[in-house]
Amino acid sequence: MEEFFRVALELIEASERHEVYRGEECINLIASEGLKSPAVREMLSLTMDLESRYAEGENDLRGHVKKRYYQGQKYISVIEDCTTELMKMLFKCSWADVRLVSGTHANLATFKGLSMATKSRKMVVAPLSAGAHISHDYTGLAGMVLGLENIEHAYDVERMNIDPDRSAQIIRAAKPGIVTFGGSLFLFPHPVKELSEVAHEVGAYIVYDAAHVLGLIAGGAFQDPLREGADFMTASTHKTFPGPQGGVVLADLKDERMEKAIKSVQYAIFPLSTSNTHLGRLPATGIAALELKIYGEALAKQTVRNAQTAGQYLYENGLKVLGERYGFTMSHQLAVDVREYGGGKRVSEALEEANIILNRNLLPYDDQNNRENPSGIRIGFQDVTRRGFYESDIKYLCDLMLDVIKGRRKPEEVRKDVIALRREHSEIKYGFQSIKEAIEHLQKSLKGI
Ligand SMILES: Cc1ncc(COP(=O)(O)O)c(C=O)c1O
Repeated sequence: MEEFFRVALELIEASERHEVYRGEECINLIASEGLKSPAVREMLSLTMDLESRYAEGENDLRGHVKKRYYQGQKYISVIEDCTTELMKMLFKCSWADVRLVSGTHANLATFKGLSMATKSRKMVVAPLSAGAHISHDYTGLAGMVLGLENIEHAYDVERMNIDPDRSAQIIRAAKPGIVTFGGSLFLFPHPVKELSEVAHEVGAYIVYDAAHVLGLIAGGAFQDPLREGADFMTASTHKTFPGPQGGVVLADLKDERMEKAIKSVQYAIFPLSTSNTHLGRLPATGIAALELKIYGEALAKQTVRNAQTAGQYLYENGLKVLGERYGFTMSHQLAVDVREYGGGKRVSEALEEANIILNRNLLPYDDQNNRENPSGIRIGFQDVTRRGFYESDIKYLCDLMLDVIKGRRKPEEVRKDVIALRREHSEIKYGFQSIKEAIEHLQKSLKGI
């Protein structure tokens, strides 16, 4: 009993300390994480009853609730349908499913659904070390859970991008059921337009994994995959899309080919891979969509500008920032080769001591099994941008990073400056400060229409 109580106390204390440490004292540069506005957080706290509920069942071809196997759904169905509609309108498409609890789940259901629809096990993907997510890979979900066979896109390391000409040949020869684009190390728009015709010619569906760049797509600052020929877009709802942790799949129901695929993906969602769909996140996901509708363009532009500013500055100060000939990045991320400074593990751990949080990362020329000490680090700017960092703050942050990476100052010394910089940026921009503010904005806008 005593041990049980001691552990419970430790749990509470660690949770409280975590909120202060990561929420108030660290600068977050993990590219796969997002920052929620006060309104999104408030919405989450207002919808705690949903956290206890179930809503299993089928949806129709608009993505709306069709049939539910539980009672008490009067408002739950409205909540799910409204969230689906907001996502459809934001991404200008005619079908969406918000029942996925994560980006990995969105990939699971989409890959499963499409492999059933095409009766093919072959999937063309980017190599893991060139940025594909583990869920695309034969060593992860795609191979080990779904039994899919990976065929790799050709990758151009210099351009940090898929090589469209060589990949076209690969797709033609392999005749896969699925061709994927998008990834976790994702600096430049992938050649969806260039490869959509050949993928469709061989009967493949194109799945664009927008987990990292969903918010940038909403803001019109990256590519627009569904207009460029992608059939499905899968994503997390908590990275550059600044909502609660969850997932989404989006598509356009244009013809019979898509109807067959959407039905199959829906079947892979329910009954194959969901029971509880974590309903408590849905209203807050909708608020995040509303924020992107209003502030998304400015947020996405500044995020990319901040990443490019940091790329140029770190490069000018001697770091090997990848993608140099192409402006370093067109997304929220940078990739930096830090072998000269001890590799990704040493550098990310030293920065962590200074309360600058980012992750080590495989680079395209790394052995893909060397995840322990890869050559690179990945730096994401979506969080600091939402905290109101502009170019001068970004350069100062880069100076602090350079101090640590180059060993000019001890990480413990730099930490004081990091905490001070973080505290200067407490307000979260490009969003609502409360649900009341969101409602007032909506009412005023509706009156003006
Ligand atoms: C490209 C990509 N797809 C999918 C995922 C998985 O998303 P989730 O963590 O929501 O399962 C990630 C995670 O970072 C990712 O980078």
